Amino acid sequence: MRTQVGIIGAGPAGLLLAQMLHQRGIDSVVLEARSRDYVEGRIRAGLLEQGAVDTLTEAGVADRLHREGLVHHGLALRFAGREERIDLTGLTGGKVVTIYGQQEAVKDMIARRLADGLPLHFEAADVAVHDIASHRPRITWRQDGREHALDCDVIAGCDGFHGICREAIPPADLTIYDRIYPFAWLGILSRSRPMSEELIYARHARGFALATMRSTTVSRLYLQCAPEEDLSQWSDERIWVELATRLGARDGELEVGPILQKGVTAMRSFVAEPMRHGRLFLAGDAAHIVPPTGAKGMNLAIADVRVLVRALEAFFAGRGEALMDAYSATCLDRVWKVQRFSWWMTQLLHRYDGEDAFEERVRMAELDYLAGSVAARTTLAENYVGLPYMD
Ligand code: FAD
Ligand code: DHB
Repeated sequence: MRTQVGIIGAGPAGLLLAQMLHQRGIDSVVLEARSRDYVEGRIRAGLLEQGAVDTLTEAGVADRLHREGLVHHGLALRFAGREERIDLTGLTGGKVVTIYGQQEAVKDMIARRLADGLPLHFEAADVAVHDIASHRPRITWRQDGREHALDCDVIAGCDGFHGICREAIPPADLTIYDRIYPFAWLGILSRSRPMSEELIYARHARGFALATMRSTTVSRLYLQCAPEEDLSQWSDERIWVELATRLGARDGELEVGPILQKGVTAMRSFVAEPMRHGRLFLAGDAAHIVPPTGAKGMNLAIADVRVLVRALEAFFAGRGEALMDAYSATCLDRVWKVQRFSWWMTQLLHRYDGEDAFEERVRMAELDYLAGSVAARTTLAENYVGLPYMD
């Protein structure tokens, strides 16, 4: 079998890449380790930057996103008994963010690819890449008890943080930047009215909390917890009490409902440089992880894909490899700015065990400064809605 671009991973990065290449007449095959049900049911990100929505729209996979997505013009910060609104739209010349579950975007892209009759293989086992430094890289995998091989011009490693593509690059050729935070998030999905029309990010002496949503009847709520938190210690009642305390919920503000899903997410900042080795290009979580506080992971994956599509379009049109050569540096420019923002939001809003009184007062002063300074709020807003694309 042969194709132009072999894509490993059917998350947001791999599926969007496949669709954008298809729009440009470039063939690809997508290989996914998990089942369709598993990929479509995985509950993760929910917040799309303005540019990410525009990108999905141009890719022709945003009809349902425009019907069902919830457009947000601002967010609230709660701390020290106060609430301060950040007017995202007013501070950014009219930009918005949109709440739409990542798994919904994934479902839309899978449906589109299958309806178009294009290759997307689920439950591909033992996926491996070969000869990545050559002009004929190859992918092998097992499926239905048979061995398969795919000759490619280029391989796109869109296989997430735990995938095999980054590992296929010789360690001596990669520089890794890694920071693990001393806390995690306990996230729930609940059948209950969202606490407010806009997201609430809360800093509390007991730790961070975030109230977000998936629809007008389904809430998504997060609590800072320990990295090795034992979920069995968190009864539904304990979760609701803790959420109400940290979010500073007023009477009737936080509706309690059945919890549909519970999970713990580790917090990490990670970058692998460069994002390319020979004919293997890494995109999305395969190359970098941000802590979720700034809501940037899926958005960054989409930004990488835009850059990769332009590079591959030029290459297959016979316009040479200059954009492919620039791919890693172009992506990393944004990646590091987004890393900085995600780290900053994280350290501003979380409780660090053992933090001394000086650090605590500095953090409070920073929140107070944000509340009082248009310049500081503008900095937050322009990063939150998404920096302009450089491609
Ligand atoms: P993934 O979604 O991880 O997709 C990789 C795919 O590759 C998977 O389907 C995997 O099964 C497959 N795969 C892995 N190994 C192999 C293999 N060997 N062979 C074949 N396939 C393989 N981001 C935001 O932008 N906004 C948010 O609000 C936000 N909130 C988040 C909240 C939580 C709780 C979590 C966990 C994450 C959040 N993120 C958020 C991050 C976001 O979910 C990720 O950054 C995003 O999924 C990255 O997409 P991806 O396609 O690069 O990787
Ligand atoms: C969501 C997740 C985030 O990490 C965030 O900062 C905002 C929203 C969400 O799941 O909706």
